[in-house]
Amino acid sequence: MQPLIILVLHGPNLNLLGQREPGIYGSLTLEEINRLLQAEGQKVNAQVVPVQSNHEGILVDTIHGALGQYQGILINAGAYTHTSVALRDAIAAVNLPTVEVHLSNIYRREEFRHHSYIAPVAIGQISGFGVQSYLLGLQALVHHLRKDEA
Ligand code: DQA
Repeated sequence: MQPLIILVLHGPNLNLLGQREPGIYGSLTLEEINRLLQAEGQKVNAQVVPVQSNHEGILVDTIHGALGQYQGILINAGAYTHTSVALRDAIAAVNLPTVEVHLSNIYRREEFRHHSYIAPVAIGQISGFGVQSYLLGLQALVHHLRKDEA
């Protein structure tokens, strides 16, 4: 079984996890989440490479750069989920299997969070399970990629 290489993209303000609205996003830092993802990846023979940026253009560039380097993308686009046609177009352009995740349940929150520009170009979305959203998302992405391989 060939190791998979997965890009994990974290969008704006997620660098502040741990101190940012812990009642909504939990108390784990981004570094702790990345470590849990890397450990989960090891169990399923996937190398997880995390990138965080607060800048839409850097996220777009990172998605473009993923082509040929990564087999899939796990993305929490943060607030850009609800605003960014550019991120959606970048994912559609590279056409890499992508899973969208959110720590909070975006559908239980303000109305402006109910719409995702990413969802229509993602394989699927996991929202509302805290750090488990990321871990479940990684499992779902790896499962999808292995199914493609078989
Ligand atoms: C988020 C939900 C978004 O609405 C918000 O802007 C975030 C985090 C989440 O993980 O729950 O920054 O993507």
